[in-house]
This record gives sequence, C-alpha cells and structure tokens, in this order.
Amino acid sequence: MIYARISGTGSYLPENVMTNHDLEKIVETSDQWIRERTGIEQRHIAADGETTVDLAEKASRMAIESAGIDASEIDLIVLATSTPDKIFPSSACILQARLDIHGCPAFDIQAVCTGFVYALTVAEKFIKTGSARKALVVGAEVFSRILNWQDRGTCVLFGDGAGAVILEANEETGVLSTHIHADGKYENLLWVPHGIADGYDEVKQGKAYVEMKGNEVFKMAVNTLGRIVDETLDANHMKKSDIDWLVPHQANIRIITATAKKLKMSMDQVVVTVNKHGNTSAASVPLALDVAVRDGRIKRNELVLLEAFGGGFTWGSVLLRY
Ligand code: UT7
Repeated sequence: MIYARISGTGSYLPENVMTNHDLEKIVETSDQWIRERTGIEQRHIAADGETTVDLAEKASRMAIESAGIDASEIDLIVLATSTPDKIFPSSACILQARLDIHGCPAFDIQAVCTGFVYALTVAEKFIKTGSARKALVVGAEVFSRILNWQDRGTCVLFGDGAGAVILEANEETGVLSTHIHADGKYENLLWVPHGIADGYDEVKQGKAYVEMKGNEVFKMAVNTLGRIVDETLDANHMKKSDIDWLVPHQANIRIITATAKKLKMSMDQVVVTVNKHGNTSAASVPLALDVAVRDGRIKRNELVLLEAFGGGFTWGSVLLRY
C-alpha cells in the first residue's frame, strides 16, 4: 500500500506587519473590536511588487530543504491561490520555472480558503495512484490586493502569506483520508463580484474587492465544520479523543474554538495563528502546520486533522499521520 506522507514543511510571511492600531488610522474600527470578534492582533502585508509566487517560492524552498530533497526530484506541483500573479500562466508554472524544475505537471487550484485542503487532496490521489512520487503542495495569497480598505467588515480580517509541504510516496502511514465539498449556491455571501466575465474593467481599475456577509458566513462555517469533523472521524472509524492536533483554517478564533469544542479538544491541542497572521486564505492551514512542526508541537506519527471553509462555498478536511 502506498501512502502520501508529508516529508517537509515551509512557510513565509511578508516583512511588513500591520497591527490593529494601524487599521484604526484607516477605517472606523478599534483594536478591542477586532480582538474580541476575531482574535486577530496583526497581519502581514506584502510589499509593493511582492507577489503570490514570491511568497510561494520562499515557502517552497524551506519545505524542499526540510524534506531533504533536491528540487529536481519534484514530479508534481499543485498551488492553491485566489490571488494568482497573472491570469495565465498559472502561478504553479511560474513557481516551477523559479525552482528550475522542468517537465512535471504544475497547476493552480482555486477553492479560496479551502484551497490548500483541495490541493493536498488532489496531490494525494496522484501519489496513491502512482502518478507522482514527490509533490510540492503550496497555499499562497496576497489577499491585501483584493481588499477594499474602506470596508471595515473585510479589510481587518485578512493577511498575506504562504505555506508549503512536500508530499512523498511512502509505505508508512501518511494521509488517511481526504474530504472535499462545495455548494455554489452560496456564491454571493463571500465573493469578488468582478472578473473576466464583465470585461475585466473593474479588475483593471482596482475595484475587484472581496465582499462578505460576515454573519451568515460565520454561522455556515461553524455548522459545516462541525459536520466535516464527524464525516472524517466516521470514515476512519475513529473517536474524537484519537486526534492529537487540530490545524484549522484561521479565519476567526470564535469559529476555531467552536470546532475544538465540538471535538472536545483542549485549546492546547489546537494550532492557532490567526492572532498573528489574520486570515491568509489558502495559506492559512499550511502556515499553521509549519509553525507547529517547527516549534516542536506536532511530532512524527501524531494524528493531525486539517480543516477549512471558504468562498464557493467550499469546505474540506484531511486526516493524516504526520
Ligand atoms: O475564511 C473564509 C471564511 N470567513 C469567515 O469565516 C468569516 C466569518 N465571519 C466572521 O468572522 C464574523 O462574522 C466577522 C468577524 C466578519 C464579524 O463579526 P460579527 O460578530 O459577525 O459582527 P457583525 O458583522 O454582526 O457586526 C456587528 C457590528 C455591526 O454594527 P451594528 O450594526 O451592530 O451597529 C458592524 O457594523 O460590528 C460592526 N463592525 C465593526 N465595528 C468595528 C463590523 N466590522 C467592524 C469593524 N470594527 N472592523
């Protein structure tokens, strides 16, 4: 039996840190409101000219180094983003060239905040079917570029960053199961309403922004993540108490706490980065995973549940032995 196992992780955050107090100078908000309603204290914002692929490259190089492989051994690149450098080629292809890799398949996945969970799911299938042996799987975003900095309901929530893993074919247990879902009927609760379809003008004028009905998204996220947790445990005939670590999508500390409560998990077993990173969309799960691997919390063979919910709506989970 071939499993897909994470052999290395990496992440990168832009140098520029924007605190809640910085935001108080831009929109009518307060550090207290943002902390109490979201748990966010600060977020990183890409410098002018710094792109998704710039962040992805740095995270990828770290993951490659920690896996102890040479970039030329990579035979699949899957990159999740909703803020690609260009309409085409894909950010995965641009990243491939930067890493001086030639010939292997490279493509982007667009599932907004669930992007990394989708990307890991796809890469795992390639490995399990023998179509790839060493995959680079990345989540990278510059969400700051699609925020309306006059809309306090969204601009305080998001940040920029990238996370990456190397997923390798291995006879030892790795990914145990993956679960991905979508329901497009909720499109306009969380979306960027402009794009190619309407002539691209709004995009060119820099008016294609994230719009969200936060309260409705919040309720859907809590309920849906509760269900995906049950689905994942049932599929593996496991109990809540079997899980060592929860690495959730980092959108709001109140959503994370609700999922931990559903799992009857202590917050000591939950990786939380939303306070320092904000919501980095597709980058949030691999960023949090890398933080907890590097600081020694997540250890080899521990059972880790990754989960996410985002625009689409899309949602999903991955259960793995690290
Ligand atoms: O990653 C994809 C998934 N995304 C999410 O999961 C996000 C889900 N949603 C949320 O996290 C929360 O709904 C928010 C953090 C976005 C908002 O929190 P909330 O507790 O749902 O607040 P609300 O939208 O119900 O707004 C409450 C009040 C409103 O004022 P009134 O109408 O009560 O007077 C808002 O206008 O807070 C006001 N408000 C703010 N006040 C200060 C909204 N944004 C801000 C702000 N600063 N930044």
